Amino acid sequence: MIEVENLTKSFGGGRGIHDLSMDIPGESILGFIGPNGAGKSTTIKLLCGLLKPDSGSASIDGIDVTPSNYDKIKKTVGYMPDIFGVYDKMSVWEYLDFFGAAYKIPVGARKKRIEEVLDLVYASHMIDYQVASLSRGMTQKIGLAKTMLHDPKVLILDEPAGGLDPQARIEMREIIVNLREIGKTVMLSSHILPELGTVCDLVAIVAKGELRAFGTVEEVSASLKEKLRYSLIVDSDPQVAEATVANFHNVSDVSLSHSEILFTFDGARTEIADLISGLVKSGTRITSLSEEEIDLESVFMKVTSEDDE
Ligand SMILES: Nc1ncnc2c1ncn2[C@@H]1O[C@H](COP(=O)(O)OP(=O)(O)OP(=O)(O)O)[C@@H](O)[C@H]1O
Ligand SMILES: [Mg+2]
Repeated sequence: MIEVENLTKSFGGGRGIHDLSMDIPGESILGFIGPNGAGKSTTIKLLCGLLKPDSGSASIDGIDVTPSNYDKIKKTVGYMPDIFGVYDKMSVWEYLDFFGAAYKIPVGARKKRIEEVLDLVYASHMIDYQVASLSRGMTQKIGLAKTMLHDPKVLILDEPAGGLDPQARIEMREIIVNLREIGKTVMLSSHILPELGTVCDLVAIVAKGELRAFGTVEEVSASLKEKLRYSLIVDSDPQVAEATVANFHNVSDVSLSHSEILFTFDGARTEIADLISGLVKSGTRITSLSEEEIDLESVFMKVTSEDDE
């Protein structure tokens, strides 16, 4: 549904995005994740036709994102920017009615459509609220309702959960899952991976303008899991155990603190059995050997910290 091929946009000094390619199937949720300045908003703006790429291309629902197609892209895509303008002296109803008119939704159909989109974002009760009085969470919901007005197939949301409290974030996740259920394709950015991991069918991790990982959460975690970190706790001479571990193939970064030996193992998981028998032969009494659990947070940290090494 969203196809990106070698997309490049440079702002000079290495900033921007470089050679980004990915394919996002329809009716799925893509988490577009990366630290501040990674290039998330830049990519999103390129996809929506708000920026022109230096090279590469993108298409959405088969429509090439090129100036001559901008009108078609606008119909297909609902874009919610990270920051959107406030229209102070308007009620939520007036605000949505205004944009409904801009989207050329006929007057007769507009009321029903506004009620539908408010319902989708759990905000029906806010219809008469003043836009200026809305909290951050409410503003995000109304922003999303506005983005949904013309019933686009694809929703591209820049930091929809930015600045929301945990409760509001849970609700935003629920809303996004509901959108997939009604057949939408959703791409959403965030600088926090765990916030999205549970709802995303796919994640793309970007750092310094480059795509560092792409796939399902499991695939991305598994690709990093080849290099597993282990903790070994012994009830015998730890130095003997440390030396045995250090001599084993595919082992690196061995460290010892008290009776715990930490090490990285870059081999097949089944080979750990050989390491255990080697340890036993050397007279080591193992009280525990465990794999460090890779949670989403550490996946993210690993993928994005590679430039700092
Ligand atoms: N119009 C511009 N002119 C010059 N540099 C820009 C422009 N827009 C973005 N950049 C630079 O490109 C890089 C990527 O910016 P972008 O806004 O895409 O990051 P982001 O991933 O959305 O970050 P954040 O999490 O802070 O929103 C940054 O280094 C930024 O300073
Ligand atoms: Mg951004």
